[in-house]
Amino acid sequence: ERAMLVDGFGRRIEYLRLSVTDRCDLRCTYCIPEGFKDFEEPDHWLNFDEIEQLVGAFVRLGVNKIRLTGGEPLLRRNLTELVARLAALPGIGDLSLSTNATQLAKHAAELKALGLNRINVSLDSLDPGKLQRIAGRDCLGKVLSGLMAAKAAGFAQIKINTVVMRGVNDDEIDALLAFCWGHGFTLRLIETMPMGDTGRNAQYVDLQPIRQRLRTQYGLIEGLVAGGGPAQYLTSPDGAFSVGFITPISQHFCTSCNRIRLTVDGTLYLCLGQDEKFEFRTLLRAGALQSDLERHIREAIALKPERHEFKESPHKIIRVMAKTGG
Ligand code: GTP
Ligand code: 5AD
Ligand code: SF4
Repeated sequence: ERAMLVDGFGRRIEYLRLSVTDRCDLRCTYCIPEGFKDFEEPDHWLNFDEIEQLVGAFVRLGVNKIRLTGGEPLLRRNLTELVARLAALPGIGDLSLSTNATQLAKHAAELKALGLNRINVSLDSLDPGKLQRIAGRDCLGKVLSGLMAAKAAGFAQIKINTVVMRGVNDDEIDALLAFCWGHGFTLRLIETMPMGDTGRNAQYVDLQPIRQRLRTQYGLIEGLVAGGGPAQYLTSPDGAFSVGFITPISQHFCTSCNRIRLTVDGTLYLCLGQDEKFEFRTLLRAGALQSDLERHIREAIALKPERHEFKESPHKIIRVMAKTGG
Protein backbone atom coordinates (compact mmCIF):
# COMPACT_ATOMS: atom_id res chain seq x y z
CA GLU A 1 0.00 0.00 0.00
CA ARG A 2 1.50 3.33 -1.08
CA ALA A 3 1.12 6.33 1.21
CA MET A 4 -1.08 9.15 -0.07
CA LEU A 5 -1.03 12.93 0.17
CA VAL A 6 -4.52 14.41 -0.05
CA ASP A 7 -5.28 18.14 0.11
CA GLY A 8 -8.20 19.95 1.73
CA PHE A 9 -10.34 19.52 -1.40
CA GLY A 10 -9.83 15.78 -1.63
CA ARG A 11 -7.27 15.98 -4.43
CA ARG A 12 -4.51 13.41 -4.43
CA ILE A 13 -1.12 15.14 -4.74
CA GLU A 14 1.33 12.94 -6.61
CA TYR A 15 3.20 15.19 -9.08
CA LEU A 16 6.10 17.33 -7.82
CA ARG A 17 7.55 19.96 -10.15
CA LEU A 18 11.08 20.63 -9.00
CA SER A 19 12.72 23.87 -10.17
CA VAL A 20 16.50 23.36 -10.03
CA THR A 21 17.43 26.92 -11.01
CA ASP A 22 15.55 30.16 -11.68
CA ARG A 23 18.15 31.26 -14.28
CA CYS A 24 17.66 30.94 -18.00
CA ASP A 25 19.69 31.64 -21.12
CA LEU A 26 16.54 32.92 -22.88
CA ARG A 27 14.12 35.73 -22.09
CA CYS A 28 10.75 34.59 -23.44
CA THR A 29 8.40 37.57 -23.27
CA TYR A 30 5.75 35.67 -21.29
CA CYS A 31 8.19 34.31 -18.73
CA ILE A 32 11.15 36.50 -17.66
CA PRO A 33 11.04 40.21 -18.41
CA GLU A 34 14.24 41.42 -20.16
CA GLY A 35 16.41 43.10 -17.53
CA PHE A 36 14.92 41.01 -14.70
CA LYS A 37 17.45 40.86 -11.85
CA ASP A 38 15.68 39.36 -8.87
CA PHE A 39 17.28 35.90 -9.10
CA GLU A 40 17.78 33.70 -6.05
CA GLU A 41 21.20 34.01 -4.42
CA PRO A 42 23.42 30.91 -4.71
CA ASP A 43 23.64 30.52 -0.91
CA HIS A 44 19.91 29.80 -0.96
CA TRP A 45 20.02 27.09 -3.65
CA LEU A 46 19.30 23.71 -2.14
CA ASN A 47 22.24 21.40 -2.79
CA PHE A 48 21.72 17.88 -4.17
CA ASP A 49 21.83 16.27 -0.70
CA GLU A 50 19.12 18.66 0.51
CA ILE A 51 17.03 18.08 -2.61
CA GLU A 52 17.37 14.32 -2.30
CA GLN A 53 16.39 14.38 1.37
CA LEU A 54 13.34 16.57 0.80
CA VAL A 55 12.19 14.88 -2.40
CA GLY A 56 12.68 11.52 -0.68
CA ALA A 57 10.21 12.60 1.98
CA PHE A 58 7.65 13.64 -0.66
CA VAL A 59 8.08 10.33 -2.43
CA ARG A 60 7.59 8.32 0.75
CA LEU A 61 4.35 10.27 1.32
CA GLY A 62 2.95 9.38 -2.10
CA VAL A 63 4.50 11.57 -4.80
CA ASN A 64 5.31 9.29 -7.75
CA LYS A 65 5.97 11.73 -10.61
CA ILE A 66 8.77 14.28 -10.62
CA ARG A 67 9.36 16.89 -13.30
CA LEU A 68 12.58 18.91 -13.37
CA THR A 69 11.97 22.51 -14.38
CA GLY A 70 13.66 25.92 -14.12
CA GLY A 71 14.34 28.57 -15.31
CA GLU A 72 16.29 26.32 -17.62
CA PRO A 73 17.10 23.12 -15.69
CA LEU A 74 20.08 22.17 -17.89
CA LEU A 75 21.87 25.31 -16.65
CA ARG A 76 22.13 23.73 -13.18
CA ARG A 77 25.67 22.38 -12.88
CA ASN A 78 25.88 18.55 -12.78
CA LEU A 79 22.15 18.14 -13.34
CA THR A 80 22.83 14.63 -14.65
CA GLU A 81 24.08 13.63 -11.19
CA LEU A 82 20.80 14.80 -9.68
CA VAL A 83 18.85 12.88 -12.33
CA ALA A 84 20.71 9.70 -11.40
CA ARG A 85 20.03 10.25 -7.69
CA LEU A 86 16.31 10.96 -8.17
CA ALA A 87 15.85 8.07 -10.61
CA ALA A 88 17.19 5.75 -7.89
CA LEU A 89 14.57 6.79 -5.29
CA PRO A 90 12.22 3.84 -4.78
CA GLY A 91 8.64 4.80 -5.69
CA ILE A 92 9.30 7.21 -8.54
CA GLY A 93 7.31 6.02 -11.54
CA ASP A 94 7.97 8.95 -13.82
CA LEU A 95 10.94 11.33 -13.96
CA SER A 96 10.65 14.03 -16.62
CA LEU A 97 12.23 17.30 -17.78
CA SER A 98 10.84 20.58 -19.16
CA THR A 99 13.57 22.39 -21.11
CA ASN A 100 14.17 25.06 -23.73
CA ALA A 101 16.52 22.52 -25.39
CA THR A 102 19.32 25.00 -26.16
CA GLN A 103 21.74 22.72 -24.26
CA LEU A 104 19.92 19.44 -24.86
CA ALA A 105 22.11 18.15 -27.72
CA LYS A 106 25.06 17.51 -25.42
CA HIS A 107 23.01 15.96 -22.58
CA ALA A 108 20.22 13.93 -24.23
CA ALA A 109 21.97 10.55 -24.47
CA GLU A 110 23.30 10.69 -20.91
CA LEU A 111 19.92 11.75 -19.51
CA LYS A 112 18.29 8.80 -21.25
CA ALA A 113 20.91 6.37 -19.92
CA LEU A 114 20.50 7.69 -16.37
CA GLY A 115 16.79 6.96 -16.25
CA LEU A 116 15.01 10.15 -17.34
CA ASN A 117 11.68 9.01 -18.84
CA ARG A 118 10.23 11.99 -20.71
CA ILE A 119 11.16 15.40 -22.15
CA ASN A 120 8.97 18.42 -22.93
CA VAL A 121 10.53 21.19 -25.04
CA SER A 122 9.42 24.83 -25.42
CA LEU A 123 9.19 25.96 -29.05
CA ASP A 124 7.04 28.94 -30.01
CA SER A 125 8.00 29.46 -33.64
CA LEU A 126 9.76 27.76 -36.54
CA ASP A 127 10.81 31.12 -37.95
CA PRO A 128 14.28 32.05 -36.67
CA GLY A 129 13.64 35.80 -36.56
CA LYS A 130 10.27 35.43 -34.89
CA LEU A 131 11.62 33.00 -32.32
CA GLN A 132 14.40 35.48 -31.57
CA ARG A 133 11.81 38.19 -30.93
CA ILE A 134 9.84 35.89 -28.60
CA ALA A 135 12.80 34.32 -26.78
CA GLY A 136 15.06 37.37 -26.72
CA ARG A 137 17.93 35.36 -28.23
CA ASP A 138 18.71 33.72 -31.58
CA CYS A 139 18.16 30.07 -30.62
CA LEU A 140 16.19 28.11 -33.26
CA GLY A 141 19.23 26.18 -34.53
CA LYS A 142 20.27 25.04 -31.07
CA VAL A 143 16.71 24.13 -30.07
CA LEU A 144 16.20 22.02 -33.20
CA SER A 145 19.49 20.19 -32.73
CA GLY A 146 18.58 19.55 -29.09
CA LEU A 147 15.23 18.14 -30.17
CA MET A 148 16.76 15.87 -32.79
CA ALA A 149 19.36 14.66 -30.28
CA ALA A 150 16.58 13.75 -27.84
CA LYS A 151 14.77 11.81 -30.56
CA ALA A 152 18.00 10.04 -31.57
CA ALA A 153 18.68 9.18 -27.92
CA GLY A 154 15.44 7.18 -27.91
CA PHE A 155 13.08 9.43 -25.94
CA ALA A 156 9.54 8.50 -26.91
CA GLN A 157 6.62 10.91 -27.05
CA ILE A 158 8.61 14.12 -26.88
CA LYS A 159 6.23 17.04 -26.35
CA ILE A 160 6.56 20.50 -27.87
CA ASN A 161 5.12 23.32 -25.73
CA THR A 162 3.88 26.33 -27.70
CA VAL A 163 2.47 29.35 -25.88
CA VAL A 164 -0.01 30.80 -28.39
CA MET A 165 0.15 34.60 -28.61
CA ARG A 166 -2.22 36.75 -30.61
CA GLY A 167 -0.52 38.53 -33.49
CA VAL A 168 2.78 36.87 -32.64
CA ASN A 169 2.64 33.14 -33.46
CA ASP A 170 -1.08 32.34 -33.79
CA ASP A 171 -0.54 32.18 -37.57
CA GLU A 172 1.93 29.33 -37.14
CA ILE A 173 -0.24 26.70 -35.49
CA ASP A 174 -0.67 24.64 -38.66
CA ALA A 175 3.05 24.85 -39.47
CA LEU A 176 3.93 23.66 -35.96
CA LEU A 177 1.35 20.89 -36.26
CA ALA A 178 2.86 19.69 -39.53
CA PHE A 179 6.36 19.84 -38.08
CA CYS A 180 5.36 17.77 -35.03
CA TRP A 181 3.31 15.28 -37.05
CA GLY A 182 6.26 14.78 -39.41
CA HIS A 183 8.79 14.23 -36.61
CA GLY A 184 6.62 12.19 -34.26
CA PHE A 185 6.40 14.90 -31.59
CA THR A 186 3.26 15.69 -29.58
CA LEU A 187 2.28 19.35 -29.95
CA ARG A 188 0.78 21.21 -26.96
CA LEU A 189 -0.83 24.59 -27.38
CA ILE A 190 -0.87 26.70 -24.21
CA GLU A 191 -2.90 29.77 -23.21
CA THR A 192 -0.77 32.56 -21.70
CA MET A 193 -1.05 33.01 -17.97
CA PRO A 194 -0.51 36.41 -16.33
CA MET A 195 2.59 35.92 -14.16
CA GLY A 196 4.83 38.68 -12.82
CA ASP A 197 4.14 41.49 -15.28
CA THR A 198 4.21 39.11 -18.25
CA GLY A 199 1.67 36.89 -19.98
CA ARG A 200 -0.97 39.64 -19.85
CA ASN A 201 -4.25 39.40 -21.71
CA ALA A 202 -3.39 41.50 -24.78
CA GLN A 203 -1.77 38.39 -26.28
CA TYR A 204 -4.30 35.91 -24.92
CA VAL A 205 -5.84 33.52 -27.45
CA ASP A 206 -8.84 31.37 -26.45
CA LEU A 207 -7.85 27.88 -27.60
CA GLN A 208 -11.39 26.42 -27.72
CA PRO A 209 -12.21 27.60 -31.28
CA ILE A 210 -8.76 26.48 -32.43
CA ARG A 211 -9.39 23.07 -30.91
CA GLN A 212 -12.67 22.78 -32.85
CA ARG A 213 -11.03 23.87 -36.09
CA LEU A 214 -8.10 21.43 -35.79
CA ARG A 215 -10.44 18.58 -34.86
CA THR A 216 -12.48 19.04 -38.03
CA GLN A 217 -9.72 20.03 -40.40
CA TYR A 218 -7.41 17.13 -39.52
CA GLY A 219 -10.04 14.52 -38.60
CA LEU A 220 -8.81 14.19 -34.98
CA ILE A 221 -10.57 12.32 -32.17
CA GLU A 222 -10.34 12.51 -28.35
CA GLY A 223 -7.15 10.84 -27.21
CA LEU A 224 -4.95 10.02 -24.26
CA VAL A 225 -1.22 10.67 -23.99
CA ALA A 226 1.10 9.57 -21.17
CA GLY A 227 1.80 12.35 -18.70
CA GLY A 228 0.40 13.75 -15.52
CA GLY A 229 -0.34 17.31 -16.51
CA PRO A 230 -3.47 19.25 -17.42
CA ALA A 231 -3.40 18.92 -21.22
CA GLN A 232 -6.41 17.48 -23.05
CA TYR A 233 -5.55 15.72 -26.28
CA LEU A 234 -6.87 15.16 -29.78
CA THR A 235 -5.31 12.28 -31.70
CA SER A 236 -5.19 11.15 -35.33
CA PRO A 237 -7.24 7.96 -35.90
CA ASP A 238 -4.05 5.93 -36.50
CA GLY A 239 -2.66 7.21 -33.19
CA ALA A 240 0.47 8.56 -34.87
CA PHE A 241 -0.05 12.20 -33.86
CA SER A 242 -1.55 14.03 -30.89
CA VAL A 243 -2.10 17.68 -30.08
CA GLY A 244 -2.79 18.79 -26.52
CA PHE A 245 -4.55 21.90 -25.23
CA ILE A 246 -3.56 23.56 -21.96
CA THR A 247 -6.33 26.01 -21.24
CA PRO A 248 -5.95 27.58 -17.78
CA ILE A 249 -8.03 30.62 -18.83
CA SER A 250 -10.82 29.31 -21.09
CA GLN A 251 -11.36 26.04 -19.20
CA HIS A 252 -9.41 25.69 -15.97
CA PHE A 253 -8.44 22.25 -14.70
CA CYS A 254 -7.93 23.00 -11.01
CA THR A 255 -10.54 20.51 -9.78
CA SER A 256 -8.26 17.69 -10.90
CA CYS A 257 -4.98 19.35 -9.87
CA ASN A 258 -2.42 16.83 -8.60
CA ARG A 259 0.62 19.17 -8.52
CA ILE A 260 2.87 21.10 -6.17
CA ARG A 261 6.02 23.08 -6.97
CA LEU A 262 9.35 23.30 -5.17
CA THR A 263 11.63 26.23 -6.05
CA VAL A 264 15.44 26.22 -6.02
CA ASP A 265 15.52 27.93 -2.61
CA GLY A 266 13.40 25.21 -1.00
CA THR A 267 10.04 26.99 -1.04
CA LEU A 268 7.01 24.86 -1.79
CA TYR A 269 4.34 26.72 -3.79
CA LEU A 270 0.94 25.10 -3.51
CA CYS A 271 -0.57 26.62 -6.67
CA LEU A 272 0.94 28.15 -9.81
CA GLY A 273 -1.44 31.11 -9.66
CA GLN A 274 -1.54 31.78 -5.91
CA ASP A 275 0.91 32.88 -3.23
CA GLU A 276 0.43 30.13 -0.62
CA LYS A 277 3.81 28.64 0.20
CA PHE A 278 5.86 26.77 2.77
CA GLU A 279 9.59 27.25 3.31
CA PHE A 280 11.69 24.12 3.78
CA ARG A 281 15.25 25.44 3.43
CA THR A 282 15.60 26.63 7.02
CA LEU A 283 14.18 23.36 8.34
CA LEU A 284 16.59 21.33 6.21
CA ARG A 285 19.57 23.44 7.27
CA ALA A 286 18.58 23.14 10.93
CA GLY A 287 18.93 19.37 10.57
CA ALA A 288 15.24 18.40 10.43
CA LEU A 289 14.55 14.68 10.85
CA GLN A 290 12.62 12.76 8.20
CA SER A 291 9.64 12.58 10.56
CA ASP A 292 9.68 16.39 10.98
CA LEU A 293 9.85 16.89 7.21
CA GLU A 294 6.92 14.55 6.66
CA ARG A 295 4.82 16.36 9.28
CA HIS A 296 5.63 19.74 7.70
CA ILE A 297 4.83 18.43 4.22
CA ARG A 298 1.36 17.43 5.41
CA GLU A 299 0.91 20.89 6.98
CA ALA A 300 2.00 22.49 3.71
CA ILE A 301 -0.37 20.40 1.57
CA ALA A 302 -3.25 21.59 3.73
CA LEU A 303 -2.50 25.14 2.49
CA LYS A 304 -3.22 24.27 -1.15
CA PRO A 305 -5.89 26.66 -2.48
CA GLU A 306 -8.85 25.49 -4.52
CA ARG A 307 -7.83 27.15 -7.79
CA HIS A 308 -6.00 29.97 -9.54
CA GLU A 309 -7.81 33.24 -10.36
CA PHE A 310 -5.97 34.27 -13.53
CA LYS A 311 -9.24 35.16 -15.21
CA GLU A 312 -10.90 36.95 -12.30
CA SER A 313 -7.74 38.79 -11.14
CA PRO A 314 -5.42 39.08 -14.16
CA HIS A 315 -3.58 41.99 -12.56
CA LYS A 316 -2.76 40.27 -9.31
CA ILE A 317 1.04 40.06 -9.38
CA ILE A 318 2.17 36.49 -9.01
CA ARG A 319 5.93 35.77 -9.07
CA VAL A 320 7.56 35.38 -12.52
CA MET A 321 7.11 32.02 -14.22
CA ALA A 322 10.87 31.28 -14.23
CA LYS A 323 10.72 30.91 -10.45
CA THR A 324 8.40 27.90 -10.51
CA GLY A 325 9.01 26.66 -14.06
CA GLY A 326 5.38 26.74 -15.16
P1 GTP B 1 3.12 16.21 -18.68
O1 GTP B 1 3.47 15.41 -17.46
O2 GTP B 1 3.89 15.76 -19.87
O3 GTP B 1 1.65 16.28 -18.92
O4 GTP B 1 3.68 17.70 -18.40
P2 GTP B 1 3.02 19.10 -18.04
O5 GTP B 1 2.17 19.58 -19.16
O6 GTP B 1 2.38 19.03 -16.72
O7 GTP B 1 4.35 20.01 -17.89
P3 GTP B 1 5.04 21.18 -18.71
O8 GTP B 1 6.21 21.61 -17.89
O9 GTP B 1 5.35 20.75 -20.10
O10 GTP B 1 4.00 22.35 -18.72
C1 GTP B 1 3.21 22.71 -19.82
C2 GTP B 1 2.34 23.90 -19.47
O11 GTP B 1 1.34 23.49 -18.54
C3 GTP B 1 3.10 25.07 -18.82
O12 GTP B 1 2.65 26.28 -19.38
C4 GTP B 1 2.69 24.96 -17.38
O13 GTP B 1 2.72 26.22 -16.77
C5 GTP B 1 1.28 24.44 -17.51
N1 GTP B 1 0.85 23.79 -16.27
C6 GTP B 1 1.31 22.60 -15.76
N2 GTP B 1 0.69 22.33 -14.60
C7 GTP B 1 -0.18 23.36 -14.36
C8 GTP B 1 -1.09 23.67 -13.34
O14 GTP B 1 -1.24 22.95 -12.35
N3 GTP B 1 -1.80 24.83 -13.44
C9 GTP B 1 -1.66 25.65 -14.49
N4 GTP B 1 -2.42 26.76 -14.50
N5 GTP B 1 -0.81 25.41 -15.49
C10 GTP B 1 -0.07 24.28 -15.43
N1 5AD C 1 1.88 31.31 -19.62
C1 5AD C 1 1.78 30.03 -20.10
N2 5AD C 1 2.82 29.19 -20.24
C2 5AD C 1 4.02 29.63 -19.87
N3 5AD C 1 5.23 29.02 -19.88
C3 5AD C 1 6.14 29.89 -19.37
N4 5AD C 1 5.54 31.07 -19.05
C4 5AD C 1 4.21 30.93 -19.36
C5 5AD C 1 3.08 31.79 -19.24
N5 5AD C 1 3.18 33.05 -18.76
C6 5AD C 1 5.46 27.67 -20.37
C7 5AD C 1 6.59 27.54 -21.36
C8 5AD C 1 7.25 26.22 -21.02
C9 5AD C 1 6.43 25.69 -19.89
C10 5AD C 1 7.20 24.92 -18.87
O1 5AD C 1 5.82 26.81 -19.30
O2 5AD C 1 6.12 27.46 -22.66
O3 5AD C 1 7.21 25.33 -22.09
FE1 SF4 D 1 13.47 30.36 -20.17
FE2 SF4 D 1 11.51 28.63 -20.22
FE3 SF4 D 1 11.09 31.02 -19.29
FE4 SF4 D 1 11.51 30.74 -21.87
S1 SF4 D 1 9.79 29.86 -20.74
S2 SF4 D 1 12.43 32.30 -20.55
S3 SF4 D 1 12.88 29.07 -21.92
S4 SF4 D 1 12.41 29.51 -18.38
